[in-house]
Amino acid sequence: MAEITLRSAKEIIFGSGSRVEVGAQAALLGNHALIVCGQGSLQASGALDELRAHLEEAGVTVTVFAEVEAEPSLDTVERGREAFSAGGCDMVVAAGGGSALDVGKAIAALAPLPEPLSDFFAGAMIPGQGRPCIALPTTSGTGAEVTPNSVLTDTATGTKASIRGHALLPEIALVDPELTLSLPPDQTAFSGLDALTQAIEAYVSTGANPVSAPMSEEAVRRIAGSLRQAVQDGRNLQAREDMALGSLLAGLALASARLGLVHGLAHPLGSLYHLPHGMVCGALLPWVIEFNLPAAEGKYARLAQMAGVGESAEDLLEWVDGLVEDLGAGVDFTARGLKRDDFDRIVPYTVASGSSKHNPRPVDEQGVTELLGRLIE
Ligand SMILES: [Fe+2]
Repeated sequence: MAEITLRSAKEIIFGSGSRVEVGAQAALLGNHALIVCGQGSLQASGALDELRAHLEEAGVTVTVFAEVEAEPSLDTVERGREAFSAGGCDMVVAAGGGSALDVGKAIAALAPLPEPLSDFFAGAMIPGQGRPCIALPTTSGTGAEVTPNSVLTDTATGTKASIRGHALLPEIALVDPELTLSLPPDQTAFSGLDALTQAIEAYVSTGANPVSAPMSEEAVRRIAGSLRQAVQDGRNLQAREDMALGSLLAGLALASARLGLVHGLAHPLGSLYHLPHGMVCGALLPWVIEFNLPAAEGKYARLAQMAGVGESAEDLLEWVDGLVEDLGAGVDFTARGLKRDDFDRIVPYTVASGSSKHNPRPVDEQGVTELLGRLIE
């Protein structure tokens, strides 16, 4: 049997209403929390005030860094590090979508280090254990609450890449599906498609293993049974719970098994054409399933059964195709600006990505060029 590596948050607490535990948990970790969140939605939903109140009731001082943007930059993390040290903080409470969690994790990981973040953007592992981070996702998508990486963008070069290391793993993943109840339909759809893509890619990945595979299967089962409902009726708590658990399981699976070609392509295409991550993942997923059929047909057939949409790999493909269209993620790449002249900027980057290296069908320049050609036919 091949070696298996498992990675996760140190502790995972899942359940509707579980956010009330943030104060008691934080009080065990330190005295002064930097809340890291986005620029609006956490305030608008009232969740920021509620988290602050829970923390302060538990005797934890709070400083708020509400400056995380979509597709967050290296600069944002550096400003967060400054806020952490200037405030005398000793832990991070990151609340929001994948961007807020990725920035919060990065601030906590880098807080004790003297090096600039850019030193690690080129691929060097972040050393040490960082400061504790409690991660509270408000979308069901990235699984960032349990993964050892943060996806960031260098705005000077337009490059999007992951930083990696143990220190990025949160101390506690606090997953409360009620925090997703106010997420708008488009963000529910796109983040849900990211979770579905991650569950499927981790399942067919060359890194898939006997621990990750059942988590991927259960993730696909939960997401397939709830994504449309969560988009149509955001207040449907049962659907939100299934999506949150599916997303968490997909995150755990990918933290062990890694991903595949969808994610290898999603970073360069997303940053070149300014497409939301979940949307570009959904748009690419049918194309990549088709590309991978010769290498993973049996696994896709098993996932069609788990999703309850048929028996064969073709059944899975047809279902994914329809879901992506219905949820508004069917991107017209030509209209978005993709053209043959750009392939030279996309292909080497995609082939070199860690995700592509775990794709079940080996990814080479010719294969990626052909696939990109089909996207603009
Ligand atoms: Fe993703």
